Amino acid sequence: MTEKIVIAIDGPSGSGKSSVSKAVARHFGLEYLDTGAMYRALTWHVVRSGASLEDPAAIIAAAEDFPLQQGTNPDAESILVGGTDVAEEIRSPEISSAVSAVAAVPRVREILIQLQRDFIAGASAGIVAEGRDITTVVAPDADARLLLTASEEVRMARRGLQLGGTQNAEQLKAQVAERDAKDSRVNNFTEAADGVVTIDSTDLDYEATVAATIAAVQKQLNR
Ligand code: DC
Repeated sequence: MTEKIVIAIDGPSGSGKSSVSKAVARHFGLEYLDTGAMYRALTWHVVRSGASLEDPAAIIAAAEDFPLQQGTNPDAESILVGGTDVAEEIRSPEISSAVSAVAAVPRVREILIQLQRDFIAGASAGIVAEGRDITTVVAPDADARLLLTASEEVRMARRGLQLGGTQNAEQLKAQVAERDAKDSRVNNFTEAADGVVTIDSTDLDYEATVAATIAAVQKQLNR
């Protein structure tokens, strides 16, 4: 029997970590877990329940009763809350601007981190898990740990493309910078922790970033 492989990938918004993580999962034949989507889906659930984003007790109550169904197939992502498909809505500007407040509540993080560890434990062949604290908190013992980075300019341009290029560039930049600033109060995802390999994709296109990431993972797996 081949051994189970766990790959942890962190990085800021627009670093390309979702598309690269999926490509890495496909390459190694593993499952894929988007932990940011989990925080976004919980935020959707909080907003839907009518809880105030300034009321940690209400946010915690929503997290303790969170009917999440999340798929881990890199070729067929799916995310449902209470049977409702939320894949599109969790990418809306409303959820993007609310998610940091939800993700900053310590008890919420405990609940979602446990859920993420359950996904990792349940993945029989293995999994690529991506987020902000996977290399450091969720799976510090992962077989391969990487931090994906890129210059702020490049990250903003990529976010613009992801959102269909319809949002005003300055507005988008301000929103992403604000979210990264809030999120970085909770986790340091701009510097690699000990043993974490950094892939800087500022001057790499998508294919080259995937190739560099796969090579770095392979090197860590061979250790
Ligand atoms: O990667 P993303 O933009 O979809 O993440 C959405 C939000 O979730 C982000 O603002 C920070 C938070 N997040 C987190 O706190 N920890 C993670 N492991 C993943 C995401």
